[in-house]
Amino acid sequence: MGVCSFFPLLCLLLFFSRAGALFGYGLLRCQLISSDNIVYLEQVYFNKVLLVQYNSTLGQYTGYTRQTKEIADDLNKNHAFLTQERKNEEKCKTILPWMFDDFSKPVEPSVTVRSVEAVGSKHQSMLVCTVYNFYPKQIRVTWLRNGEEVTSDVTSTDELSSGNWLYQIHSYLEFTPRPGEKISCMVEHASLMQPKIYEWDPAPGSEINKIAVGTAGLLLGLVFFGTGVTYYKKNTTGQVLVPTS
Ligand SMILES: *[C@@H]1O[C@H](CO)[C@@H](O)[C@H](O)[C@H]1NC(C)=O
Repeated sequence: MGVCSFFPLLCLLLFFSRAGALFGYGLLRCQLISSDNIVYLEQVYFNKVLLVQYNSTLGQYTGYTRQTKEIADDLNKNHAFLTQERKNEEKCKTILPWMFDDFSKPVEPSVTVRSVEAVGSKHQSMLVCTVYNFYPKQIRVTWLRNGEEVTSDVTSTDELSSGNWLYQIHSYLEFTPRPGEKISCMVEHASLMQPKIYEWDPAPGSEINKIAVGTAGLLLGLVFFGTGVTYYKKNTTGQVLVPTS
């Protein structure tokens, strides 16, 4: 703890003793409460216990154990330390908004429309429009039938967090197919200049094509393999092993 109390730099100490490992570490944190409210924190932990902390909102150190309370009191009387902390806080305040701008750029979602089994529905078919990896959270996903918005038999999940600052949403449409109609999923989002429309393809030819190409490739491979094996057999069966003495 002795060394760690004399931060301002990030301090990481690892002690090994016969009793086991002791782990002390310091954390410098810039907390973004909102784009104009930034809190600078400096924390020293030892074996996961917070011992002492500088909080820029309070403008002083706080000790959380008997010993560190004394240290915090001393540090709070030390102008050099407090001045350095205010400098660190300023750094935080200049760097963070810039990062915030960078991170808050809209991210365009990837969208697919496919049919899923309609279970327990009065309709024959069910489509799902999956919208992955967008930012920010606000989004509007709607269904269009021949260009007209469909409002009934539509259900949707909430905007779910994917855990990586990005969001996903899944919208379902139950319907009874009619020949010649066009069904599509429309997405409106900050990353898009205008609403983007993703049409549902009832007979996804691409899948069938992939299977066809794959099968043709496999057959061609087999032909070459067969020819090779036949050729090899022909050439080896004619050979006679000459015994050496
Ligand atoms: C920092 O101090 C402010 C004001 O007392 C308080 O609201 C905030 O919770 C403190 N932050 C931490 C992480 O202790």
